[in-house]
Amino acid sequence: MGSDRLRLGVLISGSGSNLQALMDASAEGRLSAEIACVISDKEAAYGLERARKAGVPAVWVDRAACPTMREYDLRILEVLRRHEVDTVVMAGYMRLLGTEVLDSFPMRVLNIHPALLPSFAGANGIRDALEHGVKVTGVTVHFANEVFDEGPIIAQEAVRVDEGETLASLEAKMHEVEHRLYPQALQWLAEGRVRVEGRTVHID
Ligand code: GRF
Repeated sequence: MGSDRLRLGVLISGSGSNLQALMDASAEGRLSAEIACVISDKEAAYGLERARKAGVPAVWVDRAACPTMREYDLRILEVLRRHEVDTVVMAGYMRLLGTEVLDSFPMRVLNIHPALLPSFAGANGIRDALEHGVKVTGVTVHFANEVFDEGPIIAQEAVRVDEGETLASLEAKMHEVEHRLYPQALQWLAEGRVRVEGRTVHID
């Protein structure tokens, strides 16, 4: 199957280590994608600096400057369009995207969640799983929809919770998997191998 080079718009709110993994995978030829722009809802997000260092357009879109959530999403849409993005990648973006963006990129908005969905959805997936005492947690890459952490699942990988595991040690293991799984799932998309049937995503 042919491989299209994706044009990614990456949405972040924080450190951007997943963004870094995507930029590295792209630079090393493991991911047929260009990072067209990075958008943050937080001015101080370190991910913006990572993007600038790599020569990628980095834009802070200030929520406070937009009277409604709809206007905020329209501003994000405008930036994505300006940079001719074809695939939206949420990488630690801590907000829901509105229908303005979702409907403009059908099955082209992805999210990564640090738990095996549908378990431990929400903002603290790693901590919640650890505190629940699970023996296995993991990473989920899925299509985003209008509900947090709910859309069709593209890829999952399990991570064992070992005896004596701490939040810091589990976070480190989770991030290692995230940084491998997200570029991989996007590469499947670039290769045209991702087919969605209802809630089920097939990798051909
Ligand atoms: C990751 O754990 C991701 O799964 C979650 O937010 C975190 C973002 O980390 N959605 P980073 O900003 O990519 O370092």
